[in-house]
Amino acid sequence: MIDLEGVGVTYPGGVEALKPTSLSFGSEITVLLGTSGAGKSTLLRAINQLVTPSSGTIRSAANGLVSGGCELRQHRRDTAMVFQQHQLIGSLTALKNVLTGRLAYHSTWRTLFSLAPQDRLIALAALERVSLLDFALRRTDSLSGGQQQRVGIARALAQQPAMVLADEPVASLDPATAANVLKLLSDICKSDGIGAIISLHQVQLARTFADRIVGIVEGSVVFDGPPEALNDQVLARIYRQPVQDLAPEAELNGSPSAELALSLAME
Ligand SMILES: Nc1ncnc2c1ncn2[C@@H]1O[C@H](COP(=O)(O)OP(=O)(O)OP(=O)(O)O)[C@@H](O)[C@H]1O
Ligand SMILES: [Mg+2]
Repeated sequence: MIDLEGVGVTYPGGVEALKPTSLSFGSEITVLLGTSGAGKSTLLRAINQLVTPSSGTIRSAANGLVSGGCELRQHRRDTAMVFQQHQLIGSLTALKNVLTGRLAYHSTWRTLFSLAPQDRLIALAALERVSLLDFALRRTDSLSGGQQQRVGIARALAQQPAMVLADEPVASLDPATAANVLKLLSDICKSDGIGAIISLHQVQLARTFADRIVGIVEGSVVFDGPPEALNDQVLARIYRQPVQDLAPEAELNGSPSAELALSLAME
């Protein structure tokens, strides 16, 4: 459980990207929706303090008040990030990239080559979870986009987190691969009791995979509820358009084939 109390972020230069926000996150799958620039990435980054909040407090069940030092290190270890562009090192194998998820467990900076055998077992098990064990020794830049994102998920799992923070994890994937990758991530999180906060631009994927949807407009939460409550009025508020101007669902998803891809992935 992570509790945000009045957490706000004002960037140098004065942009108030996140207005003081109080939210609690547990082991559910939360999807953040909002237009470009709404503050989704800022919220995700504030949660594990990749961006330092300008105000408010963050507490976690495991680490208490997260302010700095040891608690912050442990909090970052407990909150694994998955990025849109994977943030993998292309010249390294999938296994070595996943092993970087273990580095946070070592107080001194060891090289990837001197991590304990136990770390390798954890990394291999994580690759197996995403069905990439056979690709463990392949350079990651030789993998497809979907496979690379599965390596990104395996790296997050190797960190043995309590929460996954995923910033548009499927934005650069085709609709079918996007649905498959999200299904994989949500299935693993649910079976392991890991919470997830995922920013998305695809409303249909949000409806399918979210237990809870948080809508953000200009740094403020304007909706916080279950997917069933995400009606046209709410969507119009989140996307700041009159209801009658809302694009048909397929277009909001970014691709007319998204619905078909989703149904295939869910079979
Ligand atoms: N490092 C930064 N310095 C200054 N302003 C920033 C910085 N990062 C983001 N911003 C601004 O903060 C606001 C929120 O940005 P943020 O990246 O959180 O939005 P977002 O909802 O993730 O958008 P997108 O959907 O395009 O990824 C925007 O106005 C953006 O220009
Ligand atoms: Mg963003």
